Amino acid sequence: MPIETTASVVAGVPDDAELLAVPYTPELVPAVELDLPVPLPGLLAHYEAKGEAGEIVEVPVAREGGVGRVLLYGVGDGSPKALRKAAAGLTRRVKGREELTVVAPEGDVAAFAEAALLAAYSFRIGRPGKPPVRSLRFAFADEQAVRRGETVAQAVALARDLANTPASVKTPAWLAERAAEQGVPVRVWDEEQLQAGGFGGILAVGRGSANPPRLIQLSYVPEGTPERHVVLVGKGITFDSGGLSLKPTENMKTQKTDMAGGAVVIAVIGALARLGVPVRVTGLVASAENMPSGTAQRPSDVITHYGGRTVEVLNTDAEGRLVLADALAYADAELDPDAVVDIATLTGAITVALGRNVGSVYSTDDDLARALLAAGRDSDDRLWRMPLIDEYAPALESPIADLANVESGSTYGAGSITAALFLREFAGKRPWAHLDIAGVGRSTVDDGILTKGATGFGVRVLLEWLTRA
Ligand code: BES
Ligand code: MN
Ligand code: ZN
Repeated sequence: MPIETTASVVAGVPDDAELLAVPYTPELVPAVELDLPVPLPGLLAHYEAKGEAGEIVEVPVAREGGVGRVLLYGVGDGSPKALRKAAAGLTRRVKGREELTVVAPEGDVAAFAEAALLAAYSFRIGRPGKPPVRSLRFAFADEQAVRRGETVAQAVALARDLANTPASVKTPAWLAERAAEQGVPVRVWDEEQLQAGGFGGILAVGRGSANPPRLIQLSYVPEGTPERHVVLVGKGITFDSGGLSLKPTENMKTQKTDMAGGAVVIAVIGALARLGVPVRVTGLVASAENMPSGTAQRPSDVITHYGGRTVEVLNTDAEGRLVLADALAYADAELDPDAVVDIATLTGAITVALGRNVGSVYSTDDDLARALLAAGRDSDDRLWRMPLIDEYAPALESPIADLANVESGSTYGAGSITAALFLREFAGKRPWAHLDIAGVGRSTVDDGILTKGATGFGVRVLLEWLTRA
């Protein structure tokens, strides 16, 4: 379900605005003529309001025939980050109400609208929950900025919806159907075609499941002659039980979101046309369900990836890198991209390193890394660059195959880094970046723009990066 709250733009403050939010910037207040009980400075002092983003002072005002409410909201330093916090706080404050009219702040109105809408996101199956605010009306706002914020927020919501959908519904074939709804040409490899094409990693991971794997390719071609071609690769494990290297229940119950990277790729591609992105973008979602069964791959099996490289599978729970390896090798061999970025809920280890609020980026290319870090800062999908430590590469040596999928002992550790080193082997010589989003892919709290469950992390940073490129 997309975000149900509607966003509209109104020229001034309509007379019927029962619930009105106004930033505390003194200049804006006269523009809306508030009939405050006490002058603004005294009022703010009374409530000890400092103007920080997220602060809201609620005051009654005289309205024709009654009492209205005004929410005075702080905007902090006015940065996009502060405006996002302010906007999310407003939406959360008015949850359950019909309508909120917001006098837009100075600054990045797209970021403000985006966050106001994201804070209204909810996912429920069956009886609807308490509805979020039905309508947000932005006064004194640039219409285009509001539309841009809405487009980004709806793309994040799509990524969240896909990841929040139970795995009983969300088979690889189902994911391919959702990809086909994005308004761009889609090519889907079924099991037979994967076999014929030599996609041994995707097939091996999917072998244990009754729901066969798929490779999904989405092609966005902008109008005009694009200068760059970017390939986005997403991990699309619709459920990660661990396979025969079975996970304990506590770790398994969150693993329907193990296709969050793939969901981001689908949602990003779906939004590119609306944002007028001038770059050619091809999405690849390597999708399989990782299940234990009599047909499942075994620890000690050797598989052959797209392009011919062999891998000894020592742990079937390190399955993300196996499906991604095929897609990366295919992109390098067949798609001739200028840059490849993969995004994956790849390792629990990255949560230990960076926690739940900052995603990781690895890259073989400093310019690409810098561009992604900058886009991360501006979009608020924050990234931190992690190192590809060459000295750890021996961790993945196998006596019988080109590579092992995990370290067999515990000499090196560095679970997220060694996973990135594994992927690097398949990216060829092209500028490549890898986003390990296992820590940030789901939220344990309802706070700000986040709701419990899938976060859609990656949609905003990739859209920001592609919009600027
Ligand atoms: N999907 C998991 C990673 C994950 C863990 C995502 C927790 C979200 C939350 C991945 O496939 C996995 O199982 N990784 C293993 C790798 C290990 C076997 C080398 C891990 O992190 O334990
Ligand atoms: Mn796994
Ligand atoms: Zn996984």
